[in-house]
Amino acid sequence: MIKLKNVVISGKEVLPIIEGGKGINGTDGRSSGHFAKEGCVGTISLVSADFYDENGKPVMERSVRIKRQERHEDLIAGAIKGGIAQAQIAHEIAGNNGRIHVNELWELADSEKVISGVLEGAKGLIHGVTCGAGLPYKLGEIASSHGVYYYPIVSSARAFQILWKRSYANYSEFLGGVVYEDPWLAGGHNGLSNAENPEEPQNPYNRIKELRATLNKLGLQEKPIIIAGGVWCLSEWEDYLDNPEIGAVAFQFGTRPMITKESPISQAWQNVMRHTKPGDVILQRFSPTGFYSSAIKNKFLSRLMERKDGEIAYSLEANEEFDTPLALSNVKTVYIKAADFAKADNQMKAGYTVIQETPDSTVVFLTPAEWAEMKDDRAKCLGCLSQCQFSAWSGAKGTTGKMCDPRTYCIHKTLFDIGHNGNTDANLLFAGHQVYRFAQDPMYANGHIPTTHELIEAIKEGR
Ligand SMILES: Cc1cc2nc3c(=O)[nH]c(=O)nc-3n(C[C@H](O)[C@H](O)[C@H](O)COP(=O)(O)O)c2cc1C
Ligand code: SF4
Repeated sequence: MIKLKNVVISGKEVLPIIEGGKGINGTDGRSSGHFAKEGCVGTISLVSADFYDENGKPVMERSVRIKRQERHEDLIAGAIKGGIAQAQIAHEIAGNNGRIHVNELWELADSEKVISGVLEGAKGLIHGVTCGAGLPYKLGEIASSHGVYYYPIVSSARAFQILWKRSYANYSEFLGGVVYEDPWLAGGHNGLSNAENPEEPQNPYNRIKELRATLNKLGLQEKPIIIAGGVWCLSEWEDYLDNPEIGAVAFQFGTRPMITKESPISQAWQNVMRHTKPGDVILQRFSPTGFYSSAIKNKFLSRLMERKDGEIAYSLEANEEFDTPLALSNVKTVYIKAADFAKADNQMKAGYTVIQETPDSTVVFLTPAEWAEMKDDRAKCLGCLSQCQFSAWSGAKGTTGKMCDPRTYCIHKTLFDIGHNGNTDANLLFAGHQVYRFAQDPMYANGHIPTTHELIEAIKEGR
């Protein structure tokens, strides 16, 4: 039996067990309410959270308007409405137990507006905000102005130091703690910096110890570190408990709570997770945000990998190196290396006859159906990201001015679809690298789906 110490989170003593926020609709009012009800911390995802029509059904169409700017405005209004609706649900379930947090991706367009709108509309129901993907330097100011605690998600001591210097030093009162998310192990987007090798994971202990030393130096000894990424059972983390090098600590579970009775995700997605093996989760860089991310290798991800493998460099002018013409269309021809001709030819013969340029002077090969879908996705863009490599949408200017990148995909479309019972082959399945443990952990044997209560009891015992 492990010795878990309660920790003060968002102004209240709770169990050091936190539900990692998961968008889109990977955590909601119900799942987070049940975590809080157990005396833990639940986290509602604010990324296009569900709101309901007059019949109590989630509203699936987020905008019917045509212009991208208008669709974006509808998306933001819906996200605020959804966040408030989910906070009310969570509050009702939790009673006065535990804490309710919300999670937002900083790199979403108008993330500040969404956080402020939800905190305003759900006053008193939300106790903390967690925010990652990028450097959420304004988070301290926004949360403090609402009297709510904030938790930046970082992957290194250095990232926290930058945030502290740039802004958080002025908002230390409401800094609730710091989430350390392991960039090699966590599900969803991963905060690997250019200095870190995706192939060479580092020991989390040393990185967390460094983060604690940094917090102590800044006078933040009391602020807990929340460890996320690769946490399955706490008996494996005993070295981190009651350890002055780590200090006050709590643990965030992202992947594991996805199979519970209260998890919003579909049975089909849960079934895929139950059958993964070590190595089935791939850390890759196809997200239109430009960040690394971790997802299960299914048909959707395999096709992105294949497309990338088929990529060929070109030159607009013929020269000694690029001497072989390749017609992109009736009106445009580029030049590739002679050695790449067979690679191009094989793809075209296999039906990948639409050749698309990337922003890196390369081309990739698509089927006509893939190309039609890509154009349709771009036309239906809701402007969800501050900068999107797939559609070239920019929240600030309407367009990034860059070429659309056919090696990426519309992340809003696929996460919204899979978050609402979509096809598990045709969508991106974010998951942490320890998802294979569902197949090994006796708790999940014979298709058993635990309740959140059962899960928390097991976690408390170190199982
Ligand atoms: C399906 C999925 C979606 C996620 N979405 C988000 C998100 O929207 N925002 C966020 O900060 N983290 C997100 N995460 C990360 C989790 O909150 C958590 O920190 C991470 O999964 C922890 O690692 P683990 O999966 O090994 O437990 C997501 C993770 C998964 C598996
Ligand atoms: S195309 Fe890009 S910005 Fe537009 S909705 Fe999709 S992911 Fe978001």
